[in-house]
Amino acid sequence: MPVFSPSLVPASLVLLFWVSTCAPVCVEVPSETEAVQGTPMKLRCISCMKREEVEASTVVEWFYRPEGGKDFLIYEYRNGHQEVESPFQGRLQWNGSKDLQDVSITVLNITLNDSGIYTCNVSREFEFEAHRPFVKTSQQIPLRVTEEAGEDFTSVVSEIMMYILLVFLTLWLLIEMVYCYRKVSKAEEAAQENASDYLAVPSENKENSVVPVEE
Ligand SMILES: *[C@@H]1O[C@H](CO)[C@@H](O)[C@H](O)[C@H]1NC(C)=O
Ligand SMILES: *[C@@H]1O[C@H](CO)[C@@H](O)[C@H](O)[C@H]1NC(C)=O
Ligand SMILES: *[C@@H]1O[C@H](CO)[C@@H](O)[C@H](O)[C@H]1NC(C)=O
Ligand SMILES: *[C@@H]1O[C@H](CO)[C@@H](O)[C@H](O)[C@H]1NC(C)=O
Repeated sequence: MPVFSPSLVPASLVLLFWVSTCAPVCVEVPSETEAVQGTPMKLRCISCMKREEVEASTVVEWFYRPEGGKDFLIYEYRNGHQEVESPFQGRLQWNGSKDLQDVSITVLNITLNDSGIYTCNVSREFEFEAHRPFVKTSQQIPLRVTEEAGEDFTSVVSEIMMYILLVFLTLWLLIEMVYCYRKVSKAEEAAQENASDYLAVPSENKENSVVPVEE
């Protein structure tokens, strides 16, 4: 994983914000879009509720669209977790939260064939109002599945930069320490010499040594 991946920067900023406010704030963090075959892949979909939506009943639909293909339903949440008949059957796991703000699913054992666009559609129907208004949100995750966890160029570069920085900082620290040590010991020596000079020199001599101010 690249250290300075562009998707990580907003995510960590959001995390920082969340930590600093110290409140259970719902933030719509985007999903990762890269997966390695044979591993489980969490398709993250967060649909934050507004206060009035807490009283709504939620339906979640997950769709998959292969490259050049059409969307088809792969998972549905409607009063409980439900998998629908699809090539994904048996490989999908609900990974959302109880309050249905996080409606993520996990694809187990993802294959190269699973690359494509995943769509998570969330609809909420208000329970307390007579006319039952709907709120819909939709998020798309363009997923790319790779054969191996290839270290991409940016992560290699940032790793190298990190090591250079470490070495540089260590050297700098060493040089600074040596320099400081020398400075201190010189100052101490000088102070000692000064002190002994002062004591050794008789007072008349010292007065003589003062350069007379010429008129
Ligand atoms: C959701 O996924 C995380 C890691 O991806 C896992 O640790 C957790 O157990 C999952 N939760 C559920 C309810 O499946
Ligand atoms: C994952 O998929 C591969 C090939 O599709 C299969 O050989 C393997 O048994 C699967 N592993 C699990 C844990 O399902
Ligand atoms: C991958 O997809 C192709 C075409 O969509 C299909 O023929 C093939 O069986 C799939 N392979 C696996 C392992 O699902
Ligand atoms: C998901 O919701 C969006 C916005 O309401 C809609 O445009 C789209 O057609 C929906 N996707 C599917 C596959 O129904």
